[in-house]
Amino acid sequence: MTSQTIPVDPFDLIVFGGTGDLSERKLIPALFERQLAGQFSEPTRIIGASRSKLSDDEFRSFARKAIADHVKEDVDDHEIRTFLDRLSYVSVDAKAGTDFDKLKKAIGKDERTRVFYLAVAPNLFGDIAKNLAAHGLVTPLSRIVVEKPIGRSLQSATELNDEIGSVFGEQQIFRIDHYLGKETVQNLMVLRFGNALFEPLWNSAHIDHVQITVAETVGLEDRVSYYDKAGALRDMVQNHILQLVCLVAMEPPSSLDADAVRDEKLKVLRSLKRINGQEGPKLTVRGQYRAGASSGGAVKGYLEELGSTESDTETFVAIKAEIENWRWAGVPFYLRTGKRLAQRGSEIVIQFKPIPHSIFDESAGPVTANQLVIRLQPDEGVRQWIMIKDPGPGGMRLRHVPLDMSFAESFKVRNPDAYERLLMDVIRGNQTLFMRRDEVEAAWRWIDPILAGWEENGQKVQGYTAGTWGPSSSIALIERDGRTWHESD
Ligand code: BG6
Repeated sequence: MTSQTIPVDPFDLIVFGGTGDLSERKLIPALFERQLAGQFSEPTRIIGASRSKLSDDEFRSFARKAIADHVKEDVDDHEIRTFLDRLSYVSVDAKAGTDFDKLKKAIGKDERTRVFYLAVAPNLFGDIAKNLAAHGLVTPLSRIVVEKPIGRSLQSATELNDEIGSVFGEQQIFRIDHYLGKETVQNLMVLRFGNALFEPLWNSAHIDHVQITVAETVGLEDRVSYYDKAGALRDMVQNHILQLVCLVAMEPPSSLDADAVRDEKLKVLRSLKRINGQEGPKLTVRGQYRAGASSGGAVKGYLEELGSTESDTETFVAIKAEIENWRWAGVPFYLRTGKRLAQRGSEIVIQFKPIPHSIFDESAGPVTANQLVIRLQPDEGVRQWIMIKDPGPGGMRLRHVPLDMSFAESFKVRNPDAYERLLMDVIRGNQTLFMRRDEVEAAWRWIDPILAGWEENGQKVQGYTAGTWGPSSSIALIERDGRTWHESD
């Protein structure tokens, strides 16, 4: 199995927050992989920019270590040196004009694709954008990439979007949701729109409900100050999970053009039924992990990790959502995500309705409804559960079995990290896998009332033991409707 690599035009990538965690864990390894794949054209340069005072060589040592720690395959030192030769570093304080003069000098006058990647706290977005403009660094070939969180409410998201939008046109703004770069997430579109099989059944006449689970085993990691102000609803649902909802629920776009896809996603976000204050306790569950066991070892509770006795930040959230349109009326979307859960795994489950009438005797056993399970990670793949006859003599006995496709087993290729795809899309100027301003704002329009309802009703977090599937009320949330969460195997 060969994979095809189409080279991109030469580019300059300026990474603000160049010595930060994202740069180390994701951006540098992803760029290095793309060089290995032969996707770069010359000259391609990467300029690290952050407040730390580093020399070019110190930045190169940082990058060398990032490659050693995060690139899995064995790599030849010559490739590493070629990569390091592309790198340089400028120490920049987002507010200091003089630093931007230095940056301007480092970039030089060549007219080529220029990408400013803002891997920094959102409160710096506005200052950086203004300073780039004031120093004449924004050209028609320039793009800006921003990471979530884009705001913590509709209002703050609007302000951030205004600040960036006053300097860059919407066509130049790339809002990253790294879930959209995941292979299996893109595969969702192929599964739905590259097969004639599913689309006629993809509606409330045939689908009973949808489940989306994004379960993590990690805890707070080193993100105390960010996470405790965010919580799972803002951190995971407003962006990643709602993007998954959009891809499952959207109408077929007329093409893969960025706006054709994003127009359809926007309609889904706008059709989400608002969850009002009084409905919060019935339709949402908030949890926070307590001490327990995870990945084979004892782990602390959230508060102990935080070093505090008080915090009402949710590390788990479950929601029963509904989409008010013709296709999905009456089909609940059960969403859940959490940290320190029993097992790492993200999946989408499409639960079909039972057959209308069974021709089989009771002795044949139950006829279980079809189910399509799309596993996003780990062990990416698709599993379609169907009924068959149990092989062999002895009469008609029924069996529920999976038609199973594991991507790792079927395609012996490396599964690229989401950032590899997304970074190259930025260089190509393809916005299909990036969030448009109105999408981000529509997502907040649905999230804000949930947050407000929690506040008004004093809906506090419920404790759950680390290493379990969250508070028992999340099980009740789905079982009240006579359904159960899918257990991955
Ligand atoms: C990030 C969240 O956006 O996604 C983190 O801020 C979360 O809290 C991470 O851990 C999960 O990403 P992935 O790719 O590991 O599923």
